[in-house]
Amino acid sequence: MSNPSLLILPGDGIGPEVMAEVRKIIDWFGAKRGLAFDVSEDLVGGSAYDVHGVPLADETMAKAQEADAVLLGAVGGPKYDDLDFSVKPERGLLRLRKEMDLFSNLRPAQCFDALADFSSLKRDIVAGLDIMIVRELTSGVYFGEPRGIFEEGNERVGINTQRYTESEIERVARSAFELAMRRNKKLCSMEKANVMESGILWREVVTRVGKDYPEVQLSHMYADNGAMQLVRAPKQFDVILTDNLFGDLLSDCAAMLTGSLGMLPSASLGAPMANGRPKALYEPVHGSAPDIAGQGKANPIACILSFAMALRYSFDQGAEADRLEAAIEQVLADGVRTGDLLAEEGVAPVSTAQMGDAIVAALDASL
Ligand code: NAI
Ligand code: MG
Repeated sequence: MSNPSLLILPGDGIGPEVMAEVRKIIDWFGAKRGLAFDVSEDLVGGSAYDVHGVPLADETMAKAQEADAVLLGAVGGPKYDDLDFSVKPERGLLRLRKEMDLFSNLRPAQCFDALADFSSLKRDIVAGLDIMIVRELTSGVYFGEPRGIFEEGNERVGINTQRYTESEIERVARSAFELAMRRNKKLCSMEKANVMESGILWREVVTRVGKDYPEVQLSHMYADNGAMQLVRAPKQFDVILTDNLFGDLLSDCAAMLTGSLGMLPSASLGAPMANGRPKALYEPVHGSAPDIAGQGKANPIACILSFAMALRYSFDQGAEADRLEAAIEQVLADGVRTGDLLAEEGVAPVSTAQMGDAIVAALDASL
Protein backbone atom coordinates (compact mmCIF):
# COMPACT_ATOMS: atom_id res chain seq x y z
CA MET A 1 0.00 0.00 0.00
CA SER A 2 1.29 3.46 -0.84
CA ASN A 3 1.95 6.13 1.76
CA PRO A 4 -0.73 8.73 2.50
CA SER A 5 -0.26 11.87 0.45
CA LEU A 6 0.29 15.35 1.77
CA LEU A 7 0.13 18.43 -0.45
CA ILE A 8 2.11 21.33 0.98
CA LEU A 9 1.31 24.88 -0.11
CA PRO A 10 3.71 27.24 1.72
CA GLY A 11 2.34 30.43 0.12
CA ASP A 12 3.75 33.87 0.83
CA GLY A 13 5.60 35.90 3.46
CA ILE A 14 6.35 33.81 6.54
CA GLY A 15 4.43 30.86 5.02
CA PRO A 16 7.55 29.24 3.48
CA GLU A 17 9.57 30.00 6.64
CA VAL A 18 7.20 28.23 9.03
CA MET A 19 6.59 25.42 6.53
CA ALA A 20 10.32 24.65 6.41
CA GLU A 21 10.06 23.80 10.12
CA VAL A 22 7.00 21.62 9.54
CA ARG A 23 9.04 19.71 6.95
CA LYS A 24 11.58 18.89 9.69
CA ILE A 25 8.76 17.48 11.85
CA ILE A 26 7.29 15.49 8.96
CA ASP A 27 10.74 14.05 8.21
CA TRP A 28 11.16 13.14 11.88
CA PHE A 29 7.91 11.15 11.95
CA GLY A 30 8.98 9.39 8.75
CA ALA A 31 12.44 8.49 10.07
CA LYS A 32 11.64 7.75 13.71
CA ARG A 33 8.01 6.60 13.81
CA GLY A 34 7.68 4.84 10.46
CA LEU A 35 5.01 7.35 9.43
CA ALA A 36 6.04 8.13 5.88
CA PHE A 37 4.05 10.52 3.71
CA ASP A 38 4.25 11.16 0.00
CA VAL A 39 4.85 14.88 0.22
CA SER A 40 4.51 17.19 -2.75
CA GLU A 41 4.79 20.94 -2.74
CA ASP A 42 3.09 23.55 -4.91
CA LEU A 43 2.27 27.26 -5.15
CA VAL A 44 -0.65 29.24 -3.75
CA GLY A 45 -1.39 32.93 -3.33
CA GLY A 46 0.98 35.61 -4.54
CA SER A 47 3.74 33.12 -5.26
CA ALA A 48 1.35 31.28 -7.62
CA TYR A 49 0.26 34.58 -9.20
CA ASP A 50 3.91 35.44 -9.93
CA VAL A 51 4.31 32.23 -11.93
CA HIS A 52 0.84 31.47 -13.32
CA GLY A 53 -0.99 34.80 -13.26
CA VAL A 54 -3.62 33.27 -10.96
CA PRO A 55 -3.48 32.62 -7.18
CA LEU A 56 -4.25 28.91 -7.63
CA ALA A 57 -3.53 27.01 -10.85
CA ASP A 58 -6.09 24.42 -12.02
CA GLU A 59 -3.39 21.79 -11.79
CA THR A 60 -2.78 22.65 -8.11
CA MET A 61 -6.53 22.57 -7.43
CA ALA A 62 -6.68 19.07 -8.94
CA LYS A 63 -3.77 17.93 -6.75
CA ALA A 64 -5.53 19.30 -3.67
CA GLN A 65 -8.68 17.33 -4.54
CA GLU A 66 -6.65 14.14 -4.67
CA ALA A 67 -4.39 14.66 -1.66
CA ASP A 68 -5.18 12.90 1.61
CA ALA A 69 -4.56 16.24 3.31
CA VAL A 70 -3.46 19.74 2.30
CA LEU A 71 -1.23 21.82 4.56
CA LEU A 72 -1.12 25.55 3.82
CA GLY A 73 1.16 28.29 5.18
CA ALA A 74 -0.29 31.74 4.54
CA VAL A 75 -1.07 33.95 1.57
CA GLY A 76 -0.93 37.65 0.75
CA GLY A 77 1.34 40.61 1.17
CA PRO A 78 1.76 44.27 0.23
CA LYS A 79 3.24 43.37 -3.15
CA TYR A 80 -0.19 42.05 -4.17
CA ASP A 81 -2.43 44.66 -2.56
CA ASP A 82 -3.19 46.47 -5.82
CA LEU A 83 -4.07 43.37 -7.82
CA ASP A 84 -7.56 42.99 -9.22
CA PHE A 85 -9.95 41.33 -6.73
CA SER A 86 -10.32 38.29 -8.99
CA VAL A 87 -6.62 37.35 -8.73
CA LYS A 88 -5.84 38.46 -5.17
CA PRO A 89 -3.84 35.88 -3.15
CA GLU A 90 -6.80 35.28 -0.78
CA ARG A 91 -8.84 34.05 -3.74
CA GLY A 92 -6.51 31.05 -3.97
CA LEU A 93 -7.44 30.06 -0.44
CA LEU A 94 -11.14 30.74 -1.02
CA ARG A 95 -11.09 28.56 -4.14
CA LEU A 96 -9.56 25.68 -2.18
CA ARG A 97 -12.18 25.94 0.56
CA LYS A 98 -15.05 26.24 -1.89
CA GLU A 99 -14.12 23.54 -4.40
CA MET A 100 -13.12 21.08 -1.69
CA ASP A 101 -16.44 21.97 0.01
CA LEU A 102 -14.86 22.31 3.45
CA PHE A 103 -17.95 22.92 5.56
CA SER A 104 -16.56 22.17 9.02
CA ASN A 105 -13.94 24.53 10.42
CA LEU A 106 -12.17 23.35 13.57
CA ARG A 107 -10.58 26.04 15.69
CA PRO A 108 -9.01 24.83 18.93
CA ALA A 109 -8.33 27.15 21.85
CA GLN A 110 -5.76 25.43 23.97
CA CYS A 111 -3.74 27.03 26.72
CA PHE A 112 -0.19 25.81 27.11
CA ASP A 113 0.67 26.10 30.77
CA ALA A 114 3.97 27.90 30.11
CA LEU A 115 2.05 30.64 28.30
CA ALA A 116 -0.91 31.05 30.67
CA ASP A 117 0.36 34.42 31.85
CA PHE A 118 0.13 35.67 28.26
CA SER A 119 -3.63 35.61 28.35
CA SER A 120 -5.56 38.79 28.98
CA LEU A 121 -7.53 36.74 31.52
CA LYS A 122 -6.35 35.52 34.90
CA ARG A 123 -4.17 32.39 34.91
CA ASP A 124 -6.80 30.37 36.87
CA ILE A 125 -9.44 30.99 34.25
CA VAL A 126 -7.33 29.84 31.29
CA ALA A 127 -4.71 27.39 32.65
CA GLY A 128 -5.45 23.95 31.22
CA LEU A 129 -8.08 25.29 28.82
CA ASP A 130 -8.70 22.94 25.89
CA ILE A 131 -11.79 23.65 23.83
CA MET A 132 -12.70 23.22 20.18
CA ILE A 133 -14.99 25.46 18.18
CA VAL A 134 -16.66 23.91 15.15
CA ARG A 135 -17.75 26.65 12.77
CA GLU A 136 -19.94 26.01 9.73
CA LEU A 137 -17.86 27.42 6.89
CA THR A 138 -19.65 27.25 3.55
CA SER A 139 -23.14 28.64 4.13
CA GLY A 140 -25.03 31.13 6.29
CA VAL A 141 -25.10 34.89 6.01
CA TYR A 142 -21.79 35.18 4.11
CA PHE A 143 -23.29 33.26 1.19
CA GLY A 144 -27.11 33.58 1.42
CA GLU A 145 -29.16 35.21 -1.36
CA PRO A 146 -30.49 37.82 -1.85
CA ARG A 147 -27.47 39.96 -1.12
CA GLY A 148 -26.31 43.30 -2.39
CA ILE A 149 -26.84 47.04 -2.10
CA PHE A 150 -30.14 48.09 -3.69
CA GLU A 151 -32.05 51.31 -4.30
CA GLU A 152 -35.19 51.57 -2.22
CA GLY A 153 -37.16 54.79 -2.53
CA ASN A 154 -34.73 57.65 -2.08
CA GLU A 155 -32.03 55.72 -0.26
CA ARG A 156 -30.00 52.53 -0.57
CA VAL A 157 -30.38 49.33 1.41
CA GLY A 158 -27.65 46.76 2.13
CA ILE A 159 -28.90 43.19 2.30
CA ASN A 160 -27.43 39.88 3.41
CA THR A 161 -29.42 36.77 4.07
CA GLN A 162 -28.87 34.18 6.77
CA ARG A 163 -29.88 30.92 5.14
CA TYR A 164 -29.34 27.32 6.24
CA THR A 165 -30.81 24.16 4.79
CA GLU A 166 -31.43 21.16 7.05
CA SER A 167 -28.75 19.16 5.24
CA GLU A 168 -26.17 21.92 5.73
CA ILE A 169 -26.87 22.00 9.45
CA GLU A 170 -26.96 18.23 9.68
CA ARG A 171 -23.55 17.61 8.08
CA VAL A 172 -21.68 20.10 10.25
CA ALA A 173 -23.54 18.89 13.34
CA ARG A 174 -22.51 15.33 12.56
CA SER A 175 -18.88 16.34 12.26
CA ALA A 176 -19.10 18.13 15.64
CA PHE A 177 -20.70 15.09 17.33
CA GLU A 178 -18.03 12.80 15.86
CA LEU A 179 -15.41 15.14 17.29
CA ALA A 180 -17.14 15.21 20.67
CA MET A 181 -17.05 11.39 20.69
CA ARG A 182 -13.23 11.49 20.29
CA ARG A 183 -12.94 14.10 23.04
CA ASN A 184 -14.94 14.50 26.25
CA LYS A 185 -18.44 13.78 24.88
CA LYS A 186 -19.72 17.22 25.65
CA LEU A 187 -21.13 19.55 23.00
CA CYS A 188 -22.69 23.00 23.28
CA SER A 189 -24.51 24.34 20.22
CA MET A 190 -24.84 28.12 19.88
CA GLU A 191 -27.35 30.13 17.81
CA LYS A 192 -29.97 32.77 18.42
CA ALA A 193 -33.15 30.70 18.29
CA ASN A 194 -34.81 33.42 20.34
CA VAL A 195 -34.76 35.91 17.46
CA MET A 196 -33.79 34.02 14.26
CA GLU A 197 -35.76 31.35 12.38
CA SER A 198 -32.51 29.90 11.05
CA GLY A 199 -31.56 29.47 14.71
CA ILE A 200 -34.80 27.63 15.47
CA LEU A 201 -34.13 25.20 12.63
CA TRP A 202 -30.47 24.89 13.71
CA ARG A 203 -31.50 23.89 17.24
CA GLU A 204 -34.09 21.41 15.95
CA VAL A 205 -31.67 19.68 13.54
CA VAL A 206 -28.80 19.56 16.05
CA THR A 207 -31.14 18.01 18.62
CA ARG A 208 -32.23 15.41 16.07
CA VAL A 209 -28.65 14.53 15.06
CA GLY A 210 -27.82 14.30 18.78
CA LYS A 211 -30.20 11.33 19.08
CA ASP A 212 -27.62 9.33 17.11
CA TYR A 213 -25.02 10.18 19.75
CA PRO A 214 -26.72 9.40 23.06
CA GLU A 215 -23.36 9.36 24.88
CA VAL A 216 -22.72 13.00 24.05
CA GLN A 217 -24.04 15.49 26.56
CA LEU A 218 -25.70 18.14 24.35
CA SER A 219 -26.63 21.63 25.48
CA HIS A 220 -27.83 24.76 23.66
CA MET A 221 -26.93 28.35 24.35
CA TYR A 222 -27.78 31.68 22.76
CA ALA A 223 -24.64 32.88 21.04
CA ASP A 224 -24.50 36.23 22.83
CA ASN A 225 -24.56 34.45 26.18
CA GLY A 226 -21.95 32.08 24.71
CA ALA A 227 -19.65 35.05 24.10
CA MET A 228 -20.06 36.12 27.72
CA GLN A 229 -19.50 32.61 29.06
CA LEU A 230 -16.35 32.22 26.93
CA VAL A 231 -14.61 35.08 28.70
CA ARG A 232 -16.22 34.42 32.10
CA ALA A 233 -15.61 30.67 32.48
CA PRO A 234 -14.28 29.11 29.27
CA LYS A 235 -13.41 25.77 30.88
CA GLN A 236 -17.13 24.89 31.13
CA PHE A 237 -16.99 24.06 27.39
CA ASP A 238 -15.48 21.23 25.42
CA VAL A 239 -16.81 21.27 21.83
CA ILE A 240 -18.80 24.31 20.69
CA LEU A 241 -20.83 24.03 17.47
CA THR A 242 -22.00 27.18 15.74
CA ASP A 243 -22.81 28.80 12.40
CA ASN A 244 -20.54 30.72 10.06
CA LEU A 245 -21.08 34.26 11.37
CA PHE A 246 -21.20 33.51 15.10
CA GLY A 247 -18.33 31.07 14.62
CA ASP A 248 -16.19 33.74 13.00
CA LEU A 249 -16.51 35.93 16.10
CA LEU A 250 -16.59 33.24 18.79
CA SER A 251 -13.56 31.39 17.42
CA ASP A 252 -11.46 34.56 17.27
CA CYS A 253 -12.55 35.44 20.79
CA ALA A 254 -11.80 31.96 22.16
CA ALA A 255 -8.45 31.80 20.38
CA MET A 256 -7.27 35.02 21.95
CA LEU A 257 -7.93 33.64 25.43
CA THR A 258 -4.76 31.65 24.94
CA GLY A 259 -2.30 34.30 23.77
CA SER A 260 -0.37 34.64 20.54
CA LEU A 261 -1.52 34.38 16.94
CA GLY A 262 1.71 32.46 16.36
CA MET A 263 0.27 29.53 18.37
CA LEU A 264 -3.09 28.96 16.66
CA PRO A 265 -3.78 26.08 14.25
CA SER A 266 -6.96 25.26 12.35
CA ALA A 267 -8.49 22.52 10.25
CA SER A 268 -11.21 22.68 7.62
CA LEU A 269 -12.91 19.39 6.87
CA GLY A 270 -15.33 18.25 4.18
CA ALA A 271 -17.12 15.07 3.21
CA PRO A 272 -15.37 11.69 3.41
CA MET A 273 -13.42 10.62 0.32
CA ALA A 274 -13.48 7.10 -1.13
CA ASN A 275 -10.76 6.03 1.34
CA GLY A 276 -12.87 7.22 4.29
CA ARG A 277 -10.67 10.22 5.11
CA PRO A 278 -12.40 13.59 5.06
CA LYS A 279 -11.31 16.21 2.55
CA ALA A 280 -9.04 18.33 4.67
CA LEU A 281 -7.08 21.56 4.69
CA TYR A 282 -4.87 22.42 7.67
CA GLU A 283 -3.46 25.90 8.18
CA PRO A 284 -2.35 28.31 10.88
CA VAL A 285 -4.81 31.07 11.76
CA HIS A 286 -2.24 33.80 11.18
CA GLY A 287 -1.49 35.51 7.85
CA SER A 288 1.74 36.09 5.96
CA ALA A 289 3.07 38.64 8.51
CA PRO A 290 4.89 40.88 6.00
CA ASP A 291 6.26 42.98 8.88
CA ILE A 292 8.53 40.12 9.99
CA ALA A 293 8.81 38.06 6.77
CA GLY A 294 12.28 37.05 5.64
CA GLN A 295 13.85 37.76 9.02
CA GLY A 296 13.67 34.32 10.65
CA LYS A 297 11.46 35.72 13.42
CA ALA A 298 8.19 33.89 12.77
CA ASN A 299 6.85 31.42 15.30
CA PRO A 300 6.38 28.10 13.46
CA ILE A 301 4.24 26.51 16.22
CA ALA A 302 0.83 27.43 14.72
CA CYS A 303 1.78 25.64 11.52
CA ILE A 304 3.34 22.68 13.38
CA LEU A 305 0.17 22.35 15.49
CA SER A 306 -1.82 22.35 12.24
CA PHE A 307 0.20 19.31 11.19
CA ALA A 308 -0.60 17.73 14.59
CA MET A 309 -4.28 18.22 13.74
CA ALA A 310 -3.65 16.49 10.40
CA LEU A 311 -2.09 13.53 12.23
CA ARG A 312 -5.17 13.33 14.45
CA TYR A 313 -8.05 14.02 12.05
CA SER A 314 -6.78 12.78 8.68
CA PHE A 315 -4.38 10.01 9.59
CA ASP A 316 -5.85 8.58 12.81
CA GLN A 317 -2.56 9.08 14.64
CA GLY A 318 -3.92 10.62 17.82
CA ALA A 319 -1.09 9.25 19.98
CA GLU A 320 1.53 10.75 17.66
CA ALA A 321 -0.34 14.08 17.64
CA ASP A 322 -0.26 13.97 21.46
CA ARG A 323 3.48 13.29 21.28
CA LEU A 324 4.02 16.33 19.05
CA GLU A 325 1.91 18.59 21.28
CA ALA A 326 3.77 17.36 24.36
CA ALA A 327 7.10 18.16 22.67
CA ILE A 328 5.87 21.71 22.01
CA GLU A 329 4.68 22.01 25.62
CA GLN A 330 8.12 20.84 26.79
CA VAL A 331 10.01 23.34 24.63
CA LEU A 332 7.83 26.17 25.93
CA ALA A 333 8.30 24.98 29.51
CA ASP A 334 12.06 25.07 28.89
CA GLY A 335 11.70 28.78 28.13
CA VAL A 336 12.40 28.60 24.40
CA ARG A 337 10.59 31.57 22.84
CA THR A 338 10.24 33.23 19.47
CA GLY A 339 9.86 37.01 19.66
CA ASP A 340 6.04 36.96 19.72
CA LEU A 341 6.11 34.91 22.95
CA LEU A 342 8.49 37.15 24.86
CA ALA A 343 7.08 38.98 27.84
CA GLU A 344 10.28 40.36 29.34
CA GLU A 345 12.71 42.67 27.65
CA GLY A 346 16.32 41.60 27.44
CA VAL A 347 15.58 37.89 26.98
CA ALA A 348 16.92 36.79 23.60
CA PRO A 349 14.33 35.24 21.27
CA VAL A 350 15.16 32.16 19.21
CA SER A 351 14.79 32.09 15.44
CA THR A 352 12.13 30.21 13.48
CA ALA A 353 14.65 27.48 12.67
CA GLN A 354 15.90 27.22 16.26
CA MET A 355 12.32 26.73 17.46
CA GLY A 356 11.84 23.96 14.89
CA ASP A 357 15.11 22.31 15.94
CA ALA A 358 14.15 22.51 19.64
CA ILE A 359 10.86 20.75 18.92
CA VAL A 360 12.67 18.02 16.94
CA ALA A 361 15.07 17.58 19.89
CA ALA A 362 12.12 17.29 22.28
CA LEU A 363 10.57 14.67 19.97
CA ASP A 364 13.84 12.73 20.06
CA ALA A 365 13.78 12.90 23.84
CA SER A 366 10.23 11.48 23.85
CA LEU A 367 11.38 8.14 22.43
P1 NAI B 1 -0.98 38.55 10.13
O1 NAI B 1 -1.56 37.38 10.86
O2 NAI B 1 -0.15 38.24 8.97
O3 NAI B 1 -0.11 39.42 11.18
C1 NAI B 1 -0.65 40.08 12.31
C2 NAI B 1 0.46 40.36 13.34
O4 NAI B 1 0.81 39.15 14.00
C3 NAI B 1 1.73 40.89 12.71
O5 NAI B 1 2.32 41.81 13.56
C4 NAI B 1 2.61 39.66 12.58
O6 NAI B 1 3.99 39.93 12.61
C5 NAI B 1 2.18 38.83 13.80
N1 NAI B 1 2.29 37.39 13.50
C6 NAI B 1 1.45 36.67 12.72
N2 NAI B 1 1.85 35.40 12.65
C7 NAI B 1 2.98 35.32 13.38
C8 NAI B 1 3.88 34.24 13.68
N3 NAI B 1 3.70 33.00 13.19
N4 NAI B 1 4.94 34.51 14.47
C9 NAI B 1 5.15 35.74 14.98
N5 NAI B 1 4.33 36.80 14.74
C10 NAI B 1 3.25 36.58 13.94
O7 NAI B 1 -2.20 39.49 9.71
P2 NAI B 1 -2.18 40.85 8.87
O8 NAI B 1 -0.96 41.64 9.19
O9 NAI B 1 -3.51 41.44 9.07
O10 NAI B 1 -2.13 40.40 7.34
C11 NAI B 1 -0.92 40.30 6.59
C12 NAI B 1 -1.22 39.63 5.27
O11 NAI B 1 -1.66 38.29 5.49
C13 NAI B 1 -2.30 40.31 4.47
O12 NAI B 1 -1.93 40.24 3.10
C14 NAI B 1 -3.52 39.46 4.72
O13 NAI B 1 -4.43 39.50 3.68
C15 NAI B 1 -2.90 38.08 4.84
N6 NAI B 1 -3.69 37.13 5.64
C16 NAI B 1 -3.69 35.85 5.21
C17 NAI B 1 -4.34 34.88 5.94
C18 NAI B 1 -4.25 33.47 5.45
O14 NAI B 1 -3.42 33.17 4.63
N7 NAI B 1 -5.04 32.58 6.00
C19 NAI B 1 -5.07 35.20 7.18
C20 NAI B 1 -4.92 36.57 7.58
C21 NAI B 1 -4.28 37.50 6.82
MG1 MG C 1 -12.36 36.14 11.65
